[in-house]
Amino acid sequence: DPLAEPDSAVRPSTKRAQVKLMLSELIDSKLRAGDAIDSERSLVRRLGVSRVTVRQAISDLVADGRLERVHGKGTYVTGPRVDSRLHLTSFSREMRARGLEPGTRVLDAGEMDAPPHVANGLGIATGDRVVRVERLRTADGTPMAHELGYYPCLQFPGLLGKELGSLYDIFASDYGVIATSGEQSVFAGAADSNHARLLGVPKRAPLLVQERVTWAGERAIEYATSWYRGDRYRIHMAVTPHG
Ligand code: GLP
Repeated sequence: DPLAEPDSAVRPSTKRAQVKLMLSELIDSKLRAGDAIDSERSLVRRLGVSRVTVRQAISDLVADGRLERVHGKGTYVTGPRVDSRLHLTSFSREMRARGLEPGTRVLDAGEMDAPPHVANGLGIATGDRVVRVERLRTADGTPMAHELGYYPCLQFPGLLGKELGSLYDIFASDYGVIATSGEQSVFAGAADSNHARLLGVPKRAPLLVQERVTWAGERAIEYATSWYRGDRYRIHMAVTPHG
């Protein structure tokens, strides 16, 4: 009986928690993202616990985001999520900080007259020229986010001629512009067919949408919307006492 093994003092007390711990150790040691776990029936047999307990433990791991149920197919190990801390950081730095190699595919880049919502976000006049950059961002080759950003031409002349990998790095190295602060909102979204295709997720899969205005001192330098995969990303924030 694998559950009866004498073990450390922190062995959980309920069967449900024990099965959960066991499955989570199994995931850590033997399984990789995308692998299926054994069927409920075979877990019941192997662990000598009831089907209800196995189901509860699996549900707990689904709730924790470690497993996902695919209807009519089975239960699979999810990939790791990238914790986005609510600091002003770039995609590239965020991924590198987690040991992942950031990548960029430029989907579209060009100059245009700022439409009203962009002008409003950037604090410029409607019709002022902006660079529009649409990129697919990857981590170790896996699509993570689709990003659409607008940048005032006045501040970044010649931007389109550059290789648009990390924009914040280019701003710093080529223009001496350092992003110092930002204001952003994050809300839930669902993948339309375009996002599904770009991000490699099913249609209607949950996304985290981030809208950001980024500042360098007193000047707004970016107005951007990013669609992050809901299964690969989560927002982490410090909650501090209300002032
Ligand atoms: C985040 C923000 C984007 C910003 C990007 C810059 O992803 N959501 O608004 O454009 O970082 O990252 P990088 O310097 O890698 O282009």
